[in-house]
Amino acid sequence: MKNIKIAPSVLAADFANLQRDIEMMNDSQAEWFHIDIMDGVFVPNISFGMPVLEAINKHRNANKVLDVHLMIVDPDRYIKTFKELGADILTVHYEACTHLHRTIQAIKAEGMQAGVALNPHTPVSVLEDIIQDLDLVLIMSVNPGFGGQSFIENTYDKVRRLKAMIDVKGAKTIIEIDGGVNDKNAKALVDAGAEALVAGNFVFKSADPKATIAQLKEITLK
Ligand code: DX5
Ligand code: ZN
Repeated sequence: MKNIKIAPSVLAADFANLQRDIEMMNDSQAEWFHIDIMDGVFVPNISFGMPVLEAINKHRNANKVLDVHLMIVDPDRYIKTFKELGADILTVHYEACTHLHRTIQAIKAEGMQAGVALNPHTPVSVLEDIIQDLDLVLIMSVNPGFGGQSFIENTYDKVRRLKAMIDVKGAKTIIEIDGGVNDKNAKALVDAGAEALVAGNFVFKSADPKATIAQLKEITLK
């Protein structure tokens, strides 16, 4: 059976108690820490930047994977910087990269795993000629920019099509889902082919975030 990764989105954490929330994640069954970087240009919101990521990296346990999702234009400018800040996986948006192949090679050359994110309107078919080079594809199941939005139902179909493409090409690419993930859709996403689930509000706005992470993990094992 596949080990499905749970990736709490730090965007939904309490920034006044960031160390507490990072320690909660360290103690939890979450294998990945999902980090949303927004520039106010590619998306209509600004999240947080390098000093905050540095603080997160300082407190995370060494066995936790830093999964960085860049919602910024021209991400090539910051590949080296995010490597220095501890990123293990660096994901750029298809819609933000003119020379995607070059960007992916540059991420790998820094020793990170390379991911590509697709907005809800972008078909998976645009990845046909690059899928073999990708460690991860992040399917946005909401429009990027904000946490707490509702899940777009077309995602299941998209994940199935992407999984079929990965299998046909014999690629090893992991499918990650981001936006509106909760206990209602997690199982169906895994059944469709997802192997990593981002969850922001569902985890951090719950009464017991650590238990909620365990609940998501449990759902994926069924
Ligand atoms: C949205 C971000 C997501 C977001 C998910 O642009 O990429 O990672 O934090 O939050 P929820 O799970 O609350 O939709
Ligand atoms: Zn994200």
